[in-house]
Formats: sequence, C-alpha cells, structure tokens
Amino acid sequence: MNFTGSNILSVDQFDIDSIQTIFAIADRMQPYARRQKRTKVLDGAILGNLFFEPSTRTRVSFGTAFNLLGGEVRETTGMESSALAKGESLYDTARVLSSYSDVIAMRHPKSGAVAEFAEGSRVPVINGGDGANEHPTQALLDLYTIKKELAYHGHGVDGMHICMMGDLKFGRTVHSLSRLLAMYKDIRFTLISPRELAMPDSVLDVLAKAGHRVTITDQVSGSSDADIVYQTRIQQERFTTPQEADLYRGKFRLNSEIYTKHYKPNTVIMHPLPRDSRAEANELDNDLNQNPNLAIFRQADNGVLIRMALFALTLGVAEQVEKYECDV
Ligand code: CP
Repeated sequence: MNFTGSNILSVDQFDIDSIQTIFAIADRMQPYARRQKRTKVLDGAILGNLFFEPSTRTRVSFGTAFNLLGGEVRETTGMESSALAKGESLYDTARVLSSYSDVIAMRHPKSGAVAEFAEGSRVPVINGGDGANEHPTQALLDLYTIKKELAYHGHGVDGMHICMMGDLKFGRTVHSLSRLLAMYKDIRFTLISPRELAMPDSVLDVLAKAGHRVTITDQVSGSSDADIVYQTRIQQERFTTPQEADLYRGKFRLNSEIYTKHYKPNTVIMHPLPRDSRAEANELDNDLNQNPNLAIFRQADNGVLIRMALFALTLGVAEQVEKYECDV
C-alpha cells in the first residue's frame, strides 16, 4: 500500500505487509512518545481534528501524536459548534477545512460519513470512528497490543483464541479488529453477546471466508483456553432509547471472580474504553485493575504510537523523523 496522501477509512485497505510497515514505524516512535527524544519533522503542519461525537482517547491521542511530531492541532468538537448544525454538507465542510489543514482526523455518528467527507477533502482523512461501522485506528492499536502481549507469553497472532464479549452489534472496534484478524491464520473466535447484539453477518462472512473457527454464544462459559478476552461496552448511543440499552446493561460482566472461573491465569484482558463504570453496567470491574494481564491502559498508550506512525506515513515523512530530531 502507498500510504502517502492516502485516506485511512477502513481496515480493508490494509494487508499483512502494510500492517507490518505501520507497526515497525510505531516501534520507532517509542522514544518520542516517552519524551526521551524530540522531532520537528511536522514543523509547520496542521492537523484538523474534527470530532462530531464524544471522545477522550482517540481525539486527544490524535492531537498528542501530531504534537509529538512537531505539528499543530486545530479542533472542532461537537456538531453544535460546527456549521454542520446549520445544514452545511459534509462535502462543503471538507472542501473548506482541508484548505486549512495538512491532514484531518474525524469522528462522526453516522456510518459512512467520514468516507463521504473524504470525497470533498483535498488532504488525507483518517477515520476516528464512524457510527457503528468502523474504527480502523483503534483496530490497529488493538492488534499492535495483542502482538506485544502475546509475544510476552511466547506466542504469535496466528493460531490464537480471542473471546469478544458484550455489544458486538454496535461496537465498531470489534468489527474492525475482526476484519484485521481475519488476515492472519487459524484464529479461533468466541463471540459472546445477547442474541440481539450479535456480530453482524457482514463480519461473520469475512471470518468464514478466511477459514477461521467461530463459536457464537450467549453464555460466558466455554472460554477457558482463550488467549485474549476483549470486553466491550453496551453502546447506548446507538439504541433508539436508553431504556432499550438498559435491557442488556450489566448482563455480560467481567470481574475478578468471573475471570478466575472462566479464563486461564494469563488470558490478556482488553477493552477499547471507555468502560461504563456505573453500577448497573460495570462491564469491566475495578477489582481487575491490579491484574497484570489487564492491558487496557497499555492499549490506550499504544494509540499514540500507532497514530504517530499513520501521520508519518500519510504525510510521507516516515523516513525523516530521526533526521529532524532536536534538543529535548
Ligand atoms: N476507544 C475510543 O475510541 O475511546 P474514545 O471514545 O474515548 O475516543
């Protein structure tokens, strides 16, 4: 894949080679993210960071990643503070904002809206999550985390067993991650959810065509040899009413007792965050916070590295990062 000038809209754009390219550059970003080194490779460049749906990690880590490469960030958060609220089209917004920016990161509540925006943009657009559809940068950071966590235990991605649990219908992170994992060999998927919130057929078809083993269940049992348990939040914002989401909240919890009963001692625990910590939901209990297998904050840290790598690649400066080092 030629990254320079490309939009990053879906994980379907990648193959194993392009994923390895991104991960190799993410590895090189470690000393800059840790503030051990400094680079000005994107000095003078501007990121348009457009978030039309709530976000903490994705929005701030996009901005942090750009700053760490020496660039500046301009933000719009919330539909109500944008001219989209006055009826402006995504195309017009894209034409205008792309002349103010060198690259744009965008989140939007509607599936397909980021791709629609990209059609009007004259600079690369990176999808920060579009409705229940995709979250490609989250999937990359999740896969990067999985590789690192499994390597620590002496395993690779091929042949692993992952349990995905919770709202698999509306959770865009599990859609994108499943599509990425489909590119590897002989993965076992156990998909645990209420029947009404099962993984969409479009994703199941990709896994079936790639020959992976998939078990679909509404029971937490049967996961005792999982290498990864990937928990998700009930995506209340995608339901017609909050009351509808209440029907499923709190039904598929993971806490210390359930983890010990159903998973082997070194199963890696992941969650894209935010976790819903309200008592009625609490899908990932704080009593797991001291468990060394809890990788949720390592995931969030890896998000900066992956987003630095994507900026370096889409702006064509990946080979110049070290050349533009400056004093810390
Ligand atoms: N994981 C994730 O997308 O988190 P935010 O909604 O906080 O960006």
